[in-house]
Amino acid sequence: MQLKIREFNENDIDKIYNVELLSFGIGAYTYDMIIEMLHDKNSITIVIDNGNIIGYATAIRLNNYSMDIESIAVIPEFQGHGYGKILLNELERRMKSLGYMYSVLEVRSKNYKAIALYKNNGYKPVEYIKNYYEIDDSNGKDALRMIKSLH
Ligand SMILES: CC(C)(COP(=O)(O)OP(=O)(O)OC[C@H]1O[C@@H](n2cnc3c(N)ncnc32)[C@H](O)[C@@H]1OP(=O)(O)O)[C@@H](O)C(=O)NCCC(=O)NCCS
Repeated sequence: MQLKIREFNENDIDKIYNVELLSFGIGAYTYDMIIEMLHDKNSITIVIDNGNIIGYATAIRLNNYSMDIESIAVIPEFQGHGYGKILLNELERRMKSLGYMYSVLEVRSKNYKAIALYKNNGYKPVEYIKNYYEIDDSNGKDALRMIKSLH
């Protein structure tokens, strides 16, 4: 089946949760957190659909100018094939078309793969936040906040 990047729908929720569990492990959002995030009226969620959902990304309005990328994930067997970049760029395109000027995100300070993805796509680190995450995983509890201007 052809690969589609599209907005999520209600039938995707269990599959999105599965992507979250497989890609984040112990740091994954709970099912209830996913539901809340996807149903936030100021959020955008997109999925990569190849017959199954292999990746998803969500951004939520932070203020009049910015959206925050709450999650971006690709299931491990599909990582490293450019899907993360596709999700990131499509989310940014949608934020921009809604009039937002900045894309903001937080990433675990040792998540070097994700940090490389963001740096290569124009994000600049602006803040180091100690103990940002409650749960410790192999990438630590500290976060790097990064920002990209969409204009
Ligand atoms: C982060 C994540 C979404 C990236 O998705 P992906 O599909 O693997 O990423 P891509 O194939 O699009 O790679 C994009 C860039 O990431 C970097 N990258 C990819 N694989 C990498 C690796 N093994 N080591 C270091 N950097 C890597 C590269 O900069 C790459 O760009 P380039 O190939 O043009 O140089 C994915 O790894 C993931 O789901 N990780 C677990 C969840 C997570 O940590 N999400 C981010 C939370 S903030």
